Amino acid sequence: MTVRLLVTGGTGFVGGWIARTAAAAGHPVQVIAREEGGGAVGLAESGVEVLVGDLTDRAFMVDALGQVEVLVHAAATYAYDRAAGRRVVEETPALSRAVLESALTAGTAHAIDISSAIVFKPHAAGPRRGVTDIDSPRWTPADRAWGDPYLASKVLADEEAERARDRGLAMSSVHPALVIGPEDRRPGTSGALLLSLLDSAAVPDVTAGWCDVRDVADAVLAIAERPPGGRYLVTAETLSFRRVCRTLDTVTGRSQQRVFLPRRVVGALARVNDLAGGLLDARVPPRASLEFLLGTRGLIDGSSGLPALGLRYRPFEASVADSLAWWARNGMVDPSLGTAFDPERPDR
Ligand SMILES: NC(=O)c1ccc[n+]([C@@H]2O[C@H](COP(=O)([O-])OP(=O)(O)OC[C@H]3O[C@@H](n4cnc5c(N)ncnc54)[C@H](OP(=O)(O)O)[C@@H]3O)[C@@H](O)[C@H]2O)c1
Repeated sequence: MTVRLLVTGGTGFVGGWIARTAAAAGHPVQVIAREEGGGAVGLAESGVEVLVGDLTDRAFMVDALGQVEVLVHAAATYAYDRAAGRRVVEETPALSRAVLESALTAGTAHAIDISSAIVFKPHAAGPRRGVTDIDSPRWTPADRAWGDPYLASKVLADEEAERARDRGLAMSSVHPALVIGPEDRRPGTSGALLLSLLDSAAVPDVTAGWCDVRDVADAVLAIAERPPGGRYLVTAETLSFRRVCRTLDTVTGRSQQRVFLPRRVVGALARVNDLAGGLLDARVPPRASLEFLLGTRGLIDGSSGLPALGLRYRPFEASVADSLAWWARNGMVDPSLGTAFDPERPDR
């Protein structure tokens, strides 16, 4: 069965993989790009049709959506730099509102919203206490974690999706954890985090959920072929940064000396960095943006994701190896390391 798809955010990491994977599977795919060039170039070469336009232009979007069966909304501002805060909270929900209202007007048969695992708060009580799963409550402005602008932006965007659902849009939601994988060309926040762990001597002693971008794309395609309405939390594994660093050492064949900093120390250092206007380390986001990472400890349960779709997650080590190999081949990490972890190396 072929499904005609329209993907927003297709010039980005996650949306690009969704669009290319769908095209490779024989589905007609269109991507809305803000401009020609950039991420749009590789898409056209992969058989994806690129339309240049503005996601907030209602007439343009309704017309584009009139030609397709499934909308995949993956456009958002995924940024943690100091300057991004207010922009992230304003832009991402506004984009969701505009795109989903156009889908309502166009009568789109199925909209798949790319949300995030970050919208969910761990269960506070009961047998699943401390666990984050697809039935977890969302964070609210009363929670300290709301100080994370990206977290707030994704909850607000998720609420836009709920409103569209209530108004009759047939919707599915996909909630990935930190996404890594090949072709993370900018790289995004999650890829940059993995790269930073490669060489950092001081690492926060925290835990996060991870998944592979190809698994997200496979999940979205499987969902596109199903009746709408599902919610899927996509997380292959919940791992401490200690474990992530061990995996990086295994994959690269190096043994990096690292100090693991307790959460309280990381929080205090981030506060000092805030007072210095970010001058101590420009890569460290404001203290308030670290609330989720420093406060969340329990399992992020991805059983509602690929397993519920009859698919299997790629092992984390394979995702790390493939990410690093791609970055090495493209000159984004020390090329001398590239041969150590390139799965395409003949003797591996
Ligand atoms: N990467 C992760 O770890 C992760 C984890 C969970 C959820 N997600 C979600 O997955 C989605 C995609 O993330 P990503 O990692 O692929 O980010 P990305 O690489 O930065 O891609 C973002 C995409 O959104 C587009 N976009 C941003 N602002 C826009 C605007 N105002 N108008 C039109 N297009 C706009 C970008 O277009 P340009 O190319 O023109 O900039 C790009 O195509 C987001 O919803 C993100 O929250 C990502």
